[in-house]
Amino acid sequence: MNLNTKKLFHDAEAGGYAIGQFNASTADQIKGIIGTAARMRAPVIVATSEGECAFIGARQVVKLCEAYEEEAGIPIILNADHTYKDAEKIENLDKIKALLTAGYNSIHFDGSVLSFEDNVRWTKQVVELCKEKDPGISVEGELGFLPGASEVSEKKVEIKPEYLTDPAQALEFVRATGVDRLAVSVGNSHGISFQEDRLDIERIGKIKEAIGDHAVLVLHGGSGIPDEQIRAAIAHGIRKINVNTELRVAFHGALKEVLTTTPQTTPYKFFPPAIDAVARVVEGKITVFGSGMHA
Ligand code: G3H
Ligand code: ZN
Repeated sequence: MNLNTKKLFHDAEAGGYAIGQFNASTADQIKGIIGTAARMRAPVIVATSEGECAFIGARQVVKLCEAYEEEAGIPIILNADHTYKDAEKIENLDKIKALLTAGYNSIHFDGSVLSFEDNVRWTKQVVELCKEKDPGISVEGELGFLPGASEVSEKKVEIKPEYLTDPAQALEFVRATGVDRLAVSVGNSHGISFQEDRLDIERIGKIKEAIGDHAVLVLHGGSGIPDEQIRAAIAHGIRKINVNTELRVAFHGALKEVLTTTPQTTPYKFFPPAIDAVARVVEGKITVFGSGMHA
């Protein structure tokens, strides 16, 4: 997966579309994601959170994606999502070294719980570490705090004004760290809750205006946002959108249905409906993101 990720995002910028990041922790979910992206000729980002990576295995997910890339003939970025999000044992960046050794071609370092200065300091070190290994490795930093987890919740998620990304600070962050991509907090949250996400489109536009072409603008928490808001976000400069919860819900729902309504015990017979459910979500997202027919 020796990709020119810069070119992929450059093409997205020129074409005015966003590349989808889809999280997974099992081979079945990955089959649904990549199968759909290949059919729609869309560049795609497969991602694992720390928990997802621990479950599937870093080396295993790399090999799986490599095999799919050869077969599908579409570019696949494999991103380590929210690495160090709790800022635990960050000192020697061991987790990132292990991910790079395993073969990930993209790293998202999440320093959003740190102070601005510490976030800059650590993100810069991550960029240096990754580029030393291979200048082609794409690095995402995060500025601003996006609350919530990738789950369905009945709780109201509070978005405090201080969580939101400041456009002027965004430029300072990008310049000081050298990140390829910038994840921002623009009014939404991770997961699906019963309050509808409302993106601050004006803020997205201001951040884009401030950072220009210095970094790719990334929207996290892509689940549960109405399509027209997603289209507006893309029109204002978002070029990568992360989706997880909607995929989890689709996979879980379809699997539950098949396991409770049929006596089927053969995995390769009871998994396909769940894979199809993931595929349908991915198809919908790629359609809204406009990335189809670009690979
Ligand atoms: O990093 C992953 C995404 O931000 C997932 O967010 O679960 O709301 O789709 P989501
Ligand atoms: Zn996220």
